[in-house]
Amino acid sequence: MSNEPKGKQPTFVSWLAKDSRKAPPAYARRTEFDMGVDDVPIARYTSREFHELEMKRMWSRAWQMACHESNVPDPNDYITYEIGNRSWIVTRQKDGSIKAFANACLHRGMQLVEGSGKLPAFVCPFHGWSWNTDGSNRGVTERWDLPQLKDRDLCLPQAKVATWGGFVFINPDPDAQPFEDYIGDLDEHFVSDPLQNRRVAAHVARVTPANWKVAMEAFIESYHVSPTHPQAVPVSEYPETQYDIYNENVSRLATISIAPVSDVAKAMTDQQFADFGAKSTGREPVRLKPGQSYRSALADERRELVSAALGQSVDHLTDVEMLDAIEYFVFPNFMPWHGYGLQITYRFRPNGDDHESCIMEVYFMLPRNLSEPCPRAPETIWVPEDGTFADIEALGRIGPIFDQDWVNILGVSKGLKSTVKKGLWLSHYQEARIRHYHKRIDAFIAMSDPT
Ligand code: FES
Repeated sequence: MSNEPKGKQPTFVSWLAKDSRKAPPAYARRTEFDMGVDDVPIARYTSREFHELEMKRMWSRAWQMACHESNVPDPNDYITYEIGNRSWIVTRQKDGSIKAFANACLHRGMQLVEGSGKLPAFVCPFHGWSWNTDGSNRGVTERWDLPQLKDRDLCLPQAKVATWGGFVFINPDPDAQPFEDYIGDLDEHFVSDPLQNRRVAAHVARVTPANWKVAMEAFIESYHVSPTHPQAVPVSEYPETQYDIYNENVSRLATISIAPVSDVAKAMTDQQFADFGAKSTGREPVRLKPGQSYRSALADERRELVSAALGQSVDHLTDVEMLDAIEYFVFPNFMPWHGYGLQITYRFRPNGDDHESCIMEVYFMLPRNLSEPCPRAPETIWVPEDGTFADIEALGRIGPIFDQDWVNILGVSKGLKSTVKKGLWLSHYQEARIRHYHKRIDAFIAMSDPT
């Protein structure tokens, strides 16, 4: 079965072809794939046993986003990354590199640090053993009484670490494939607008009463947009979204967000459509110059704003990169959006060792002044249990949209526990990214337990 959709045709590539600028070849490439139509077993979301397999065999071996580099800008800065019942200390070294250590004392296992901060050494509060921030042992109290340590490695165990786009990734598996191989040609997609040119303007997190996959899948396709976010429909080609699968770990969706989609809109003059678009999306009205389209006016306006923020011209970026909704996914927990249509990155992961709750995180990634060091990431804003995303000022006009997605997340989480069905019926094309990453989970859990 071909992946070619029989109904609506994706329009991303055709918009790129008529764009005012040329896109990088990797970015403009459309992929062929076939993820099949098999039911996806519901037990993958609800069973404790499946969660334990994921924890033991997948999260212990996959490259995963642990923090942003600006969480640890200076030597001896640290932040913990919690995944399942494991905790890692991510810390900046004197030479500027970053290391990640198992957050557990080598004596009786006491957790060494919590949260984030800056320390000259990691000192265990229980009996006082200590480690330098490069992981080497600094001291064992009452060493005379531990003769068995003579030939032992007293360094803190490390995870592999990589950085990409300003984010820090770790892999607990000492035999993990290099991160560069894991992400394939992702660099080439972001070559015209590297993610490291952004700063974390806000980091919003919410404990979510749903399996991590239920929450993440609420954001991985555009199939849901018309019923869930009807306000976005009048000027957006959501049904014509293009989906791409690049390798076993990386996929993408690409939606044209500013376009005259209805017959009524198509019959409008450029200025009428500009007025309609501004009203529909809550943007400021735009007075078009002769011959100018609403897309080009908005793209030019945004190029000016971004260039001013960066202190560097972005005149080379396509209208698509300035306006539209392009979301990448790097398995299993990193979802950066490309361009300036939506300047966010998502992360989803289990909440501790609970298979029925997860942590949903939104990083607001705004352009940063490139002549200055990247500012330190702000403190995480936690959405209260009885709060809403709309209450979080930092989220701006996107907060109410997350509240619409939240209804779906809670509803699916409840429904999956009460349904009599055994499997999900996913669409062949629009939900192919879901099947794709489930296959990746399968590949990990088909492996034996790590030693
Ligand atoms: Fe850490 Fe004893 S548990 S020094």
